[in-house]
Amino acid sequence: MARTIAITNQAGGVGKTTLVRDIGYELASRDKRVLLIDLDPQASLTIFLGLDPWQQEKTIYHSLKDESVSLPSLEVFNLKLVPSNLKLAEIEMELATVLLREFRLREILNPISDNYDFILIDCPPSLGLIVINALCAADEVLIPIQCEFKSWMGTDGLFDTIAKVAKQANKRLKILGVIPTMLDSRTSLHTKIADQIRTQLGQVTQVFPPIRRTIACADASVKSLPIQLYDPKAEIVNDIKRIVEAIL
Ligand SMILES: Nc1ncnc2c1ncn2[C@@H]1O[C@H](COP(=O)(O)OP(=O)(O)OP(=O)(O)O)[C@@H](O)[C@H]1O
Ligand SMILES: [Mg+2]
Repeated sequence: MARTIAITNQAGGVGKTTLVRDIGYELASRDKRVLLIDLDPQASLTIFLGLDPWQQEKTIYHSLKDESVSLPSLEVFNLKLVPSNLKLAEIEMELATVLLREFRLREILNPISDNYDFILIDCPPSLGLIVINALCAADEVLIPIQCEFKSWMGTDGLFDTIAKVAKQANKRLKILGVIPTMLDSRTSLHTKIADQIRTQLGQVTQVFPPIRRTIACADASVKSLPIQLYDPKAEIVNDIKRIVEAIL
């Protein structure tokens, strides 16, 4: 059985997709069989890995809509990717009256779970049905929190939602931990928030070493490469390695 990890935070732009790409690539470089699922209608993960969302004949949308459609997975670098596109935005309406709609992703992943060591799910910035599907399918949740006031203030609602899902819908669900992201240690507010994350959330969950703000990270996305291939000497590559070692 794969370890299925949802990377989630309803706050936008905190580094979820970038982490899924780079943690996924790092795990695969260590001979783990890795499946990445783009569960975001924005399709950033699909794009960050160099694929055109609109060129995909089948996406995660098709399997969620009709469970008999086998999960489309594409080879990218040393990974497999289930792509997405904007069509996924329609799924919440389309499943609105379907019984057990929260468990569609879990049902799709169950039969293929043994084929992988890790399944990483990139969530959209919301707490709607798509994210609930991710939380019901996952064993673990990884929460990136940007070292900014706004991102830090929004975490209560997320922890409440995870606790509710764990109590009512998915008893195996555990919080794997929190990753402070985009830390610029020259900015005093960033270091203050990173400290607060460590001291306050450290009492309830694992706080991973922070990911530093790095321009190369955004450039890697433009070039459709994991950071490890775009700039192997970047400090952030070591940040990712440290996190992966803690996950393993
Ligand atoms: N450590 C970093 N340093 C600098 N820029 C970063 C870092 N991580 C991500 N970025 C950039 O920040 C932007 C947002 O990152 P990303 O798309 O991974 O966030 P997200 O949480 O997935 O966003 P969304 O909520 O829209 O899905 C991107 O342009 C990305 O390249
Ligand atoms: Mg994203």
